[in-house]
Amino acid sequence: MKHTVTSIKAMSSKGEAITMLTAYDFPTAKKVNDAGIDMILVGDSCAMVVHGHPTTLTATMDMMVLHCAAVARACDRTMVIADMPFGSFQYGIDETMRNAARFITEAKVDGVKFEATPHHIEKTKAIVEMGIPVMGHVGLHPQAVGALGGLKVQGKDMDSARKVVRESLALQEAGVFGIIIEAVPAKLSAYITKKLDVPTISIGGGPGCSGQLLVTPDVLGMYDNFTPSFAKQYQHFGDMMIDTFKKYKEEVESGVFPGEKHSYKMSDEVLEAIEKEYGPA
Ligand code: KIV
Repeated sequence: MKHTVTSIKAMSSKGEAITMLTAYDFPTAKKVNDAGIDMILVGDSCAMVVHGHPTTLTATMDMMVLHCAAVARACDRTMVIADMPFGSFQYGIDETMRNAARFITEAKVDGVKFEATPHHIEKTKAIVEMGIPVMGHVGLHPQAVGALGGLKVQGKDMDSARKVVRESLALQEAGVFGIIIEAVPAKLSAYITKKLDVPTISIGGGPGCSGQLLVTPDVLGMYDNFTPSFAKQYQHFGDMMIDTFKKYKEEVESGVFPGEKHSYKMSDEVLEAIEKEYGPA
C-alpha cells in the first residue's frame, strides 16, 4: 500500500524510523520504491547532482515538474514529495498556490516541501488549505547559500538555535505534516523532535529525529563535486561506472563486442538475393 500522511505520522507515533531518499528519475525512483524506502524527496538538489550546476538556485518549476513526474510514475509504495524551487514561492500567495498545484496535477506527486522562512507561513497555510500535504524545512536552507556565505551548519549559537526552534513551531502551527531538519546539531534536532507532534526528518540533524534523509547520488557514490560531512557513501557506483565504460570501450576496440549473442541473424538466401540485386559489397 502507498504511504500517506497518515501512515507516515503513524510510523512516527509508534517510534518506527522513517526512511527518505532523494530521486530524480524513473529507474532510480523504482529501485528506491522497491527497496521499501518510505518517502522520496525530488529535491532541487537535482540542479546540482543531475544538471551539474554549482548550487540549487538554478532549478526551475519546469525542470522540477519533469523530474517529479518521472519519479511519481515509478512509485506505487513510496510517498513522493516535490521540492518547490527558488522563485516558486517567494512572490504572491496565488503564484505559490498555482506552483504547488502544478506538482499535484502535472507531476502527480503526493505532497510538496519548501524552504519556508517566517515570511512564508501564510503561504504554507494556503497550500495546506488547498488540501496538499506540505513538509517544512528548517536549519540550513541551501537556497539561501548566498546570504549564508556557504552551506554551513545552523542552530549552533543561541540566536540561530532560537530561530530553528521558532520556525519549526510556526510550521507545525501552519499545518505541515512533517519537517526536514538540515545541518543542525544533533542535540537541537532531538529537542525539536520531542517538542513537536509532527515527525522530523534529519539530513545532517543527527539520530534523534523521527527519520533520516540522504541525497541518493551521495549514498551511491556518484557525485563528487560537493559531499557534506553528514553524507554517507554506501557504494562507489561512480568508480564502478568508469570501470564498466572502460570495459565496453576495450571490447569495442578489440572487436569482442558485439559478438554473435548481441547480433541479429538472417538467412543466407536473403543476403545472396541482395548481392545478386545490388552486386557484391
Ligand atoms: O534538494 C534537496 O535535496 C533538499 C534536501 C537536502 C533537504 O532540499
